[in-house]
Amino acid sequence: MPTVISTRSRERSNEWYQRAQQSLVEGVNSPSRGAAVYSPGPVVLERGRGSHVWDLDGNEYVDFMMSFGALIQGHAHPKIVEVVTQTMADGSHFAAATPAESEAAERFRRMVPTAEAVRFANSGSEATMLALRLARAHTGRTKFLKFEGHYHGWYDPYCLNGHSHPADQLGPRENPTRFPDSAGIPPAVFDDVVLAPWNDLETLETILRRHGRELAAIITEPIMANMGCILPREGYLQKVCDFAHRYGALFILDEVVTGFRYAPGGCQQYYGLEADLSTFGKALGAGFPVGAVAGPRAILDRMRWGSDGMVLHYGTFNGHRLTMRVIAANLDLLAANDSAIYQQIYAVGDSAIAGLREVFRQRNIDAIVQGFGPMFQIYFTGHDAIQDYRDYCRYVDTAKYSRFIHALLDRGIYMTPSNGLHWIISTAHTRRDVEALIAAADEVCAELA
Ligand SMILES: Cc1ncc(COP(=O)(O)O)c(C=O)c1O
Repeated sequence: MPTVISTRSRERSNEWYQRAQQSLVEGVNSPSRGAAVYSPGPVVLERGRGSHVWDLDGNEYVDFMMSFGALIQGHAHPKIVEVVTQTMADGSHFAAATPAESEAAERFRRMVPTAEAVRFANSGSEATMLALRLARAHTGRTKFLKFEGHYHGWYDPYCLNGHSHPADQLGPRENPTRFPDSAGIPPAVFDDVVLAPWNDLETLETILRRHGRELAAIITEPIMANMGCILPREGYLQKVCDFAHRYGALFILDEVVTGFRYAPGGCQQYYGLEADLSTFGKALGAGFPVGAVAGPRAILDRMRWGSDGMVLHYGTFNGHRLTMRVIAANLDLLAANDSAIYQQIYAVGDSAIAGLREVFRQRNIDAIVQGFGPMFQIYFTGHDAIQDYRDYCRYVDTAKYSRFIHALLDRGIYMTPSNGLHWIISTAHTRRDVEALIAAADEVCAELA
């Protein structure tokens, strides 16, 4: 077992955090990075290389958060650094046609099975926003169905039941209580949203009997990645796709988290799904901001200028040249040697999962680890499995998880204390990183037990 690193003081992190709060709301640019999850405040990071990051006080951590999954190649991958440096020398972006965007799109199409064409945007949120607009234009319908606990970005109509709530307030499964995630959204926006529990075909059928014919789309994450890591039941996603088609709605697969991660072609390849539209972000850009919508020409061509019922999609930074060059390099790295890199990611991830399970077993801690290969989450619970949002709200001890992660942060493991997110394995992680995690987790569990 390796020795557990003990992180020294976070004095400079704390000082910088105090300073940041004077000009930034909560000292950060997204609540999930600040005091909402870190106590007394965030670890302020300065540098990253491979699977490791360093904070302002010089403390070193193995990073299992990886920019919420964006860094599939780890930090400062030499190839990405080279491409960025070379590209920048000729200018970052022209907002004009460039070879870079075709090179990225060609590689994308080779990897993603359902991509007859692709449109690049700048974030996962933009991609899901566009997918819904396309679906509405294509079907001539306005309503859509989303599942409880799924997150598709911060676009108004998606901001319903994305956060956890007390289990006794969730309402009946066929008609869930509706919790807007944000103020400032006109309530009428949610009139177009039909809500359903995930992983439950019977209830979905009941809800579709009532609303199916009104739906432009059913949107789903293939693996629920914003309530930790919840896997679909066997055959579930295919059935949801069939149901959508039965009612004339599109099946939108939100692969922002899973794309290029579970397989070269994402979960649609892994589970063999024919999504009508799929959305991407995160790992696609290897640390650069990007979003993408992929699908058949019959739907994507609605964006053609002047086409009948044209769908508008603008964006100064769409197809950003620097990002497109990074994407091409990233996808080449992922596709190299018959995609052997995925075997490595799976081997490292599965050994982390097995190691953590063993620690919890030996230390007699009521905790489970869900997921496989590139992504997983730990739940402190007496239950064998967390199957949906309601299980998460009812059975998961998120406060204990936060204590666990804060104790790991003191031992050189970097991870967000939010139980709703998930552990990420990049191509840069090694077995040594896993050993460091297991040794630190064992020490923390000895204290927790
Ligand atoms: C499944 C899913 N879809 C969409 C998004 C939004 O992506 P972005 O944060 O790039 O806007 C996220 C972000 O975490 C996500 O998890």
